[in-house]
Amino acid sequence: MERSQVIIPEADLAQQREFEAKIKEMFTAREAHPVACVDTFGCQQNVADGQKLMGMLEECGFTFTEDWKEADLVILNTCAVREHAEQRVFGNLGILTHTKKENPEQVICLCGCMAQEERVSNRVKESYRHVDLVFGPHALWKFPELLWRVYDKRKRVFAVDDEHGSIAEGIPVVREKGVKAWVSIMYGCNNFCSYCIVPYVRGRERSRDPQCVLEEVRGLVEAGYKDITLLGQNVNSYGKDLGIDYDFADLLAEIDQIEGEYVIRFMSSHPKDATKKLFDTMAASKHVARQLHLPFQSGNNRVLHEMNRRYTREQYLELINYAKEKMPGLVITSDVIIGFPGETEAEAMDTVSLVEEVGFDALFTFIYSPRPGTKAAEMPDPATREEKQKWFDKLLEVQNGMSAKLHAAYIGKTVRVLVDGESDDAEFPLAARTNGNRLVRMKGDKSLIGQFIDVTITGSNTWALYGEV
Ligand code: SAM
Ligand code: SF4
Ligand code: F3S
Repeated sequence: MERSQVIIPEADLAQQREFEAKIKEMFTAREAHPVACVDTFGCQQNVADGQKLMGMLEECGFTFTEDWKEADLVILNTCAVREHAEQRVFGNLGILTHTKKENPEQVICLCGCMAQEERVSNRVKESYRHVDLVFGPHALWKFPELLWRVYDKRKRVFAVDDEHGSIAEGIPVVREKGVKAWVSIMYGCNNFCSYCIVPYVRGRERSRDPQCVLEEVRGLVEAGYKDITLLGQNVNSYGKDLGIDYDFADLLAEIDQIEGEYVIRFMSSHPKDATKKLFDTMAASKHVARQLHLPFQSGNNRVLHEMNRRYTREQYLELINYAKEKMPGLVITSDVIIGFPGETEAEAMDTVSLVEEVGFDALFTFIYSPRPGTKAAEMPDPATREEKQKWFDKLLEVQNGMSAKLHAAYIGKTVRVLVDGESDDAEFPLAARTNGNRLVRMKGDKSLIGQFIDVTITGSNTWALYGEV
């Protein structure tokens, strides 16, 4: 794609700010104080998009609530990655018919990855007539204009055209309170893993200008954010579309030069594009966390080929071993799918054996979910749900044992953590994160929130560490 066609011109963004002003004026004239509820599902990219929606809404004069009944505007910012996520959204849309009956002025909006699927937007058009506005990730930047059309014409608006995608800089953001911030460094995905819907709903890979990313991170550090995560579906292909000789490792090295007390994380990495240069850069850095999320999906080469992942088990292990060697104590996590169409028990057990071999600190595990429109959804899938569940349970048993063992090894050690909030455990009321992003529940005073401190680990289980200042 031509870069000039990817970047949204400043004039178009200025026009959106005019729509924000119009909406604000409309509410001021009515002496109304509009309240919005933004519910986000799915991955951190979607969370980051949700924060932009809130940023634009704030400019329109909205404040926020978590209660649909109180809201003048309800936004479901959806995920399409698995069937279960989609079913939940349709369930929620059903419930919203009641809130709208009680408050007929309520505006209901469906956006995010599900909204970009034609199958979904058609279903909403026909069967969920109380939904006023539907738009996909491509139209996010023109949300003020779409919302104005809903208020002005009182007609349903659908903005779901299939596009390659764009980059809009300077959209305001409402971040969570605290020390954590998300920064999208690129959008879209070119990989078309055969099971995955993301490339169909998020368009082609496009990288933000390095200067824009650096400026945003610098601003966040100055504003006191201390745990910053760079986001992309495959951050390792950052820069390939910039037309200059600049890659993700170069970006990380430049960010690392920013002065301050903070940690940089990133996700996700695709093993086919992970380079030794990246691990060398991480190892030499001051701020990049010793943490690597490197999804492998399957430990069997036939399944990896059918998934269109374009690496082998052996290549994956070589990368992991190199990273471990360069960064002793590196915390490694991954994503895994069990029950890909045609997978046999022996092949699923290859995944379990890879998990044993690597020794992941934690795993995000999924049972395969067919996504209409993807290649894998057309493949024969003879294994039963019960068989897949059995393989999945075996995987969990092995991983839980591994996590518990790795966590137990922390006991007696003193580790530096960032206290990032309160925990739900009365005895250990604070929540903190190690450099490798392991959760530490700890004793201590709330005044420690937002600080880096040294904690002695006194206990552990599969999911967390326990400690004292
Ligand atoms: N881009 C990232 C990558 O490639 O690692 C992750 C993207 S996806 C949003 C997050 C995870 O969901 C994937 O790594 C995969 O394990 C899982 N996933 C994607 N499609 C799936 C499907 N159809 N069924 C089950 N799990 C799926
Ligand atoms: Fe989906 Fe693969 Fe792209 Fe990740 S790399 S978003 S799994 S297609
Ligand atoms: Fe993320 Fe779900 Fe979309 S995982 S990219 S919100 S399909």
